[in-house]
Amino acid sequence: MENTNENKASQMGDNLSKNKPISGTQKSDFDETRILISQLTRLFEEELKDIHWAEEALVKAMPKLIKNARTPDLRDAISNHLTETENQVRRIEQVFEILGKNVSSKKCEAMEGLIKEADEIMRTCDEGIMRDEGIIAAAQKVEHYEISTYGTLHQIAETLGLVKAVKLIQSTLDEEKAADRKLTEIAIRIANKQNIHAN
Ligand SMILES: [Fe+2]
Repeated sequence: MENTNENKASQMGDNLSKNKPISGTQKSDFDETRILISQLTRLFEEELKDIHWAEEALVKAMPKLIKNARTPDLRDAISNHLTETENQVRRIEQVFEILGKNVSSKKCEAMEGLIKEADEIMRTCDEGIMRDEGIIAAAQKVEHYEISTYGTLHQIAETLGLVKAVKLIQSTLDEEKAADRKLTEIAIRIANKQNIHAN
């Protein structure tokens, strides 16, 4: 496992093996660093399991959004993002590999709730502009959840010195932010096309 903090720890180990004197303060710093690395690694793994479950749930849920959307741009945007989402699942699995761990998932209650909300919107909104705007709202909530999770994972991976994981997570984070921007653009285009202005 690549790890800059581990390197720091191993430098301390080198001092010990070369019989260099090590103070009590250095020793406790070393123990504290090891505990923090282990705690952050555990948190990182838990967040990975959560987002793995969430992305797999989205791969199953997105076809229904595409089927319900009537604006061609919106259907295309969600279809493209479905392909990206499938790749994002693979990237998460690559990060598990980097950690030397088996791929695993943990139910993401938040994503389950957001998907239920999307279903509710599709059920209660009239087909057409209303439902399309509702789908955009539901999809943007999903994107914002993902952006916050990948942002946290990115920061922890940087702290742990997981360089390859940082790059993988950054690629996904860029796609999620682009998807969110695209949805905003489509919402504006729909409103402009329909000339929906209250005043
Ligand atoms: Fe996404």
